[in-house]
Amino acid sequence: MKLSGAFYATLPALFTGVAGAGWEFVQNGTSGILALEAIIVSPTLAVFFDFAGTGDPLMINGHSAWGALWDLETNQVTALDVLSDTFCASGSLLSNGTMVSVGGNFLAGTSSASDGRMALRIFEPCPSANGAGCTLFDNPDLVHLTETRWYPSSLRIFDGSLMVVGGIHEATLFYNTDPVNSFEFFPSKDGAVPRPSAFLERSLPANLFPRVFALPDGKVFMVANNQSIIYDIEANTETILPDIPNGVRVTNPFDGTATLLPLSPPLYIPEVLVCGGTNSSDQIPSANLSSQDPASDQCSRIVLTPAGIEKGWEVERMLEGRMMPEMILLPNGEVLIINGGQTGYAAMSSVSDLVGNSNADHAVFTPSLYDPSAPLGHRISNEGLPTTDIARMYHSSVSLTPSGNILLAGSNPNPNVNMTVKFSTFGAHTTLCREYRVQYLNPPYMSLARPTLAGAPSKIAFSSKFTARVTIPASAGNSSVVKGALLTVALMDLGFSSHAFHSSSRLVWLEATLSRDRKSLEISSPPNNRVYPPGPGYLFLTIGDTTSAGVHVMVGSGAPPPVPDQGRRI
Ligand SMILES: *[C@@H]1O[C@H](CO)[C@@H](O)[C@H](O)[C@H]1NC(C)=O
Ligand SMILES: *[C@@H]1O[C@H](CO)[C@@H](O)[C@H](O)[C@H]1NC(C)=O
Ligand SMILES: *[C@@H]1O[C@H](CO)[C@@H](O)[C@H](O)[C@H]1NC(C)=O
Ligand SMILES: *[C@@H]1O[C@H](CO)[C@@H](O)[C@H](O)[C@H]1NC(C)=O
Ligand SMILES: *[C@@H]1O[C@H](CO)[C@@H](O)[C@H](O)[C@H]1NC(C)=O
Ligand SMILES: *[C@@H]1O[C@H](CO)[C@@H](O)[C@H](O)[C@H]1NC(C)=O
Ligand SMILES: *[C@@H]1O[C@H](CO)[C@@H](O)[C@H](O)[C@H]1NC(C)=O
Repeated sequence: MKLSGAFYATLPALFTGVAGAGWEFVQNGTSGILALEAIIVSPTLAVFFDFAGTGDPLMINGHSAWGALWDLETNQVTALDVLSDTFCASGSLLSNGTMVSVGGNFLAGTSSASDGRMALRIFEPCPSANGAGCTLFDNPDLVHLTETRWYPSSLRIFDGSLMVVGGIHEATLFYNTDPVNSFEFFPSKDGAVPRPSAFLERSLPANLFPRVFALPDGKVFMVANNQSIIYDIEANTETILPDIPNGVRVTNPFDGTATLLPLSPPLYIPEVLVCGGTNSSDQIPSANLSSQDPASDQCSRIVLTPAGIEKGWEVERMLEGRMMPEMILLPNGEVLIINGGQTGYAAMSSVSDLVGNSNADHAVFTPSLYDPSAPLGHRISNEGLPTTDIARMYHSSVSLTPSGNILLAGSNPNPNVNMTVKFSTFGAHTTLCREYRVQYLNPPYMSLARPTLAGAPSKIAFSSKFTARVTIPASAGNSSVVKGALLTVALMDLGFSSHAFHSSSRLVWLEATLSRDRKSLEISSPPNNRVYPPGPGYLFLTIGDTTSAGVHVMVGSGAPPPVPDQGRRI
């Protein structure tokens, strides 16, 4: 039978029925370094980055490490030898599966690290499940950016290369006072001459870590401060879109977050959701801001078609204000809103009434779910979601894992290990300075009988069909499958987490047909490399209330960027 059209619009009905443990937080292991950036690099490994010279307990070559491999199976950490300072960098995977960490910092004399501001650190796909022998190539003399960039964003685009957006040249405590208002690419385009951006100029001084998304036509949507544009990479033009309503600002140091909502065939109409941040003026000096200023509870959503842009942003409210939240796409098409504080700002040591060194306070301990298909006003709920006692404030990271649960690490609103201050290391729940405890948030399906997906080809061409074996637990029920509305296959990029933003994160629904014997699925790959920028991804099968573990695939040829257009136009 044909199960296409089984996309998120039908999903609310799923969350009734099968009993299990429900959502739960589980703490397991410690990160050894502060996990202020995180990216899943293989089915079993995540990479964490910290900043250099902090005295972290994890050692390498006789000094504290600032990069590490986290083993998702054993919950153990191994130091990575990083040469340059990864402080406040970003990154992504390329079309050949290689992870690139971009930009960073330089604090002369504080550590053995070299200047990371032009760094392009390369982590090749590594076959070792536990990370033994996996290395990071980090030599800024050989491979580097054109500009020095601290606080840049990175995005995998339609040709599988990386677009690097914005940043700051030099250390600054709060606003972007020494901006890099340009875009560049890796591998470089235009003879490595950066492209100036009027948008970045206009969105000063709160435009660090712009929230940027690859649209299904290859253009790039960007939000910085309270402004948004669509950037056409091929024509090098910026089209101004409406501002976020009500003066709400969402990029560092006013970190809200943003996500591209799941893309559905046949049209893959893009919609963006932006949540949290602040409506404080960006003209107020940081010394006149307070850690107790309420964060914004506003979510704003826009459909990126001419009609949607004409209509503008639709506003809805979270259950609480959030500074520095992060949004995680879940394999069933819902969005997890997690982390952050109810008051204050991002960054540290800049407002009038610091909490330790934190510019923010009142950590939010309970995540919410956002259901994109529910009617306005009924999309956000924390019913059934658990409460943690570990605050995740500035410099925390979060990612969906290939197993289908959510990895949480980091949090450090203080510059260094300090056991005495509020938000200190390892303390009771009101303390969150350098937080090394790693947690998982387990969705209910982690404790239920789960469907499985196996035997998909490891490499999937665009606009093609492939077959995978499935098993469907009896408890998933037959009626749900027979009705044809409750089976979905999600192709996901798990993204790179840094500073309350998950760059390159993506969910594309794939059409799928279940065989008569219910043992195999015929799945259609994305139509082309603009709908899903070529590179690695995970396939998740959701049936009823349960979701399979993710299956790692390479989408496209796996060739190094830039790769030519592939597949069919939509
Ligand atoms: C922590 O993870 C290890 C390795 O997966 C596992 O053996 C152990 O049972 C886990 N502990 C808890 C408390 O979940
Ligand atoms: C966005 O911010 C700018 C600069 O602070 C301001 O002039 C403009 O009115 C804001 N837009 C909205 C919709 O509030
Ligand atoms: C900032 O605070 C100082 C001291 O209270 C005050 O004199 C100044 O006017 C304030 N500036 C702004 C822009 O609010
Ligand atoms: C600014 O945000 C705060 C906190 O959400 C809210 O109470 C206030 O009404 C907002 N002000 C405006 C002008 O929207
Ligand atoms: C820890 O923080 C407290 C309060 O801000 C400060 O007095 C103390 O000097 C700090 N200790 C270290 C080792 O930085
Ligand atoms: C679903 O159908 C299979 C085969 O027809 C049967 O063995 C199984 O018990 C059914 N499961 C439920 C929950 O009805
Ligand atoms: C992937 O492509 C990048 C950029 O060209 C290159 O630096 C890297 O070595 C390539 N990795 C592999 C495994 O081909």
